[in-house]
Amino acid sequence: MSSDISHDQHGAPITAPVLDWTSDYDIFDPQYINDPYGIWAELRQTCPMAHTDRWGGSWLPTRYADVYAIAHDIEKFPSGNGISVVPLVDPASDGDSVPGNTPSPVLTSGVPPISADPPLHTWTRRLILPTMSPARVADYEVFTRDLCHRLVDDVLESGTGDAASEYAQQIPVRVIGHILGVPEDMSATFTEWVRDVLEFAHDVERRRNGISNIIHYLRGAIEARQAEPQDDFITELLNSEHDGEPIGTPVVMGMCALLLIAGIDTTWSSIGSTMWHLAAHPDDRRRLVAEPNLMPTAIEEFLRVYAPVTMARRLTEDKQYEGRPMKAGERILMNFPAANRDPEVFPDADRVILDRQQNRHLAFGTGIHRCAGSNLARMELRVAIEEWLARIPEFELIDPAAVTWAGGQVRGPRSIPVRIS
Ligand code: HEM
Repeated sequence: MSSDISHDQHGAPITAPVLDWTSDYDIFDPQYINDPYGIWAELRQTCPMAHTDRWGGSWLPTRYADVYAIAHDIEKFPSGNGISVVPLVDPASDGDSVPGNTPSPVLTSGVPPISADPPLHTWTRRLILPTMSPARVADYEVFTRDLCHRLVDDVLESGTGDAASEYAQQIPVRVIGHILGVPEDMSATFTEWVRDVLEFAHDVERRRNGISNIIHYLRGAIEARQAEPQDDFITELLNSEHDGEPIGTPVVMGMCALLLIAGIDTTWSSIGSTMWHLAAHPDDRRRLVAEPNLMPTAIEEFLRVYAPVTMARRLTEDKQYEGRPMKAGERILMNFPAANRDPEVFPDADRVILDRQQNRHLAFGTGIHRCAGSNLARMELRVAIEEWLARIPEFELIDPAAVTWAGGQVRGPRSIPVRIS
């Protein structure tokens, strides 16, 4: 967690190799980032609540039943004490701090609703939901489809492309920018800031810079709308009230930061994993092209099997969980991705079954913090896949070994070189 930690060529931290996944796991270990599935299967059998002292100490449940129960027990496992999987430099953004770090700009209200417990959670979530309703999302679909169409044009023109960095990564940042009312030419910059916050959370400097850049940008965007209101969500939030009072700039800032952070890396990772699967599994790809009516179940299956998000809860006092002594300050990693591959709940859990009928997956979490953007995320994933397959039904990985993955709080492919076949 120090800023002088060394990194490999993809930016992943180089830490001591893991010898025992039950008592010393590391979610930033390259093995965990590249292929965590075998590790989860083993842990589920031998130690379904693994522990590590790394990154401030945490617990890693791998069974669906445990992840589900912890997500619903908000008294014992609140979100207000910290939701990051590693200790943060920015106390107010996570209720957490690393002693000795220089102060950084803070989101004084955190990033509600995800970092909040009721009552702040309840009313801030209520302010977001209408913007993410099915009807509003249907409006954003026009913009999304046009965007995907343009991106596919570029791949068709050259015959090759990177399905992660030149396609998946380009979509959610522009869609959420469109909703918030931030210019499209800021997309690459936003993407870098969000990567600094999530993918490089373990790197104190990068994380601090990412948060500070987002705050600086949003401060300007909010001031501009206070001077001249626009037809966008930032303006809508500035005009919102709670208990008869304006909700205040710090809450607006925190909520906008959350939408940027939560809306970008997550969805791009899901689109990217799905693109990787379709490139590497021609049978599934051809079946989906031949039977487009499978799209709704296929989308749920891709969300299940490649769930990208692991959030955390943090204990403020010592607790017992099913006989395990959990210490104050430790985290519990909400391992939604591992829960989704629990064979107790999903028969043939590691296999992609495009027409899987029973699929109560936890990719979007569960309980009061269940993803507020799930309608939007599902639409983006569906439209991205539909637009690509409609015009590029046959494509393949140029070199399977060249595919790279990023992990930590959000896992997904960062590079998928493909050619039209
Ligand atoms: C495939 C894409 C996505 C996945 C897998 C995903 C996953 C999740 C998960 C697991 C949570 C629960 C976190 C917890 O329990 O602590 C969550 C919460 C949240 N997500 Fe998403 N998300 C996605 C896309 C989006 C998008 C596009 C947006 C909006 C722009 C969004 C906004 C939110 C918000 C606001 C919350 C907090 C809800 C609350 O605390 O009440 N997400 N997401």
